[in-house]
Amino acid sequence: MAAASGGSGAGSCFVLGASGATGRALLRELQARRLFARVTVIGRRRLSLAEESGTAVEQVVVDFERLSEHAAAFRGHDVGFCCLGTTRSKAGTDGFVRVDRDYVAQAAELAWAGGCKHFVLQSSQGANEHSRFLYLRVKGEVEKLVRAVGFDRCTILRPAAKEIKTKLGTLLQKPDSAIDFIVPYPEKPEKPAKAQKPSPEEALQWRDSLEKLLQNPYGLASFRSFLRSEFSEENAEFWVACEDYKKTKSPVKMAEKAKRIYEEFIQTEAPKEVNIDHFTKAMTMKNLVEPSPSSFDMAQKRIFALMEKDSLPRFVRSEFYQELIK
Ligand SMILES: NC(=O)c1ccc[n+]([C@@H]2O[C@H](COP(=O)([O-])OP(=O)(O)OC[C@H]3O[C@@H](n4cnc5c(N)ncnc54)[C@H](OP(=O)(O)O)[C@@H]3O)[C@@H](O)[C@H]2O)c1
Repeated sequence: MAAASGGSGAGSCFVLGASGATGRALLRELQARRLFARVTVIGRRRLSLAEESGTAVEQVVVDFERLSEHAAAFRGHDVGFCCLGTTRSKAGTDGFVRVDRDYVAQAAELAWAGGCKHFVLQSSQGANEHSRFLYLRVKGEVEKLVRAVGFDRCTILRPAAKEIKTKLGTLLQKPDSAIDFIVPYPEKPEKPAKAQKPSPEEALQWRDSLEKLLQNPYGLASFRSFLRSEFSEENAEFWVACEDYKKTKSPVKMAEKAKRIYEEFIQTEAPKEVNIDHFTKAMTMKNLVEPSPSSFDMAQKRIFALMEKDSLPRFVRSEFYQELIK
């Protein structure tokens, strides 16, 4: 899916909303980094795209009110990026719901039917299907619809406009162009700076033991970097935070850390909310009434199991790991 370094990328992706602030920046990155062999922009109008060096972009113009008639545009892509959206002031209430929820959900269905494995949706901070605010409610509803489609991977980004602006100032040249967090797929995991590279024999053990991989500083750093490229770094970050938490001696520090971990990873709509079931979440919250070294054990185990089942096999297949064991 993602390209190798220096990249003639493999696979195909499409971008919805490529004319918008976020979509434009995403498209530039996709082209410049040559992450995919094929990049298709699907939009309601043809764009005059500046000559960028990198992957050429195909364009397909569709009528979003008759999206099902354009199933072919969504066929054969590995990854779909969706930066579609409007506002109530531009489109009215019904128009906003139509674009931000219905068009997105229909596009996701078509993408899935067309073989897409990974859908990346730009939603919004605070998205919540039960919110009394229309914007947040619609974002919550669309997230739910997209998640239900059944992609192998579904990534939902929840930026805050404020955050974007702050980051933009330092990270991007043009203040009106988009964002850094959506820039995915570093061509190769960053090399861990200080950790010593393992021998191939040592690295081979990681195939069958996530525990050994995580206990090795080089392994942990590589794995985190890999997860970052897959938008799921929060799992490893949570695991690391729990390890640190368990070693904390001072009860005061432990309580502070428990609060931080809860706010960062556990609570609903936390910035790096990890995917744990209701029961585990409820048990964890109960444990936090009186924090102890084992307060997060259950949640940490769940996330470990998730990474073991889901991310480790992909890490092991990655070019980076294959090089390590040579
Ligand atoms: N940028 C932010 O700070 C931020 C923060 C939080 C969440 N978000 C969310 O991220 C998404 C993208 O934001 P953005 O700032 O990049 O938006 P944007 O600049 O307004 O771009 C919106 C994109 O959606 C397309 N679009 C709008 N109405 C359409 C319609 N009726 N039919 C077909 N396409 C339509 C636009 O195409 P045209 O060019 O043809 O109009 C454009 O490509 C939105 O859902 C937004 O709510 C953005």
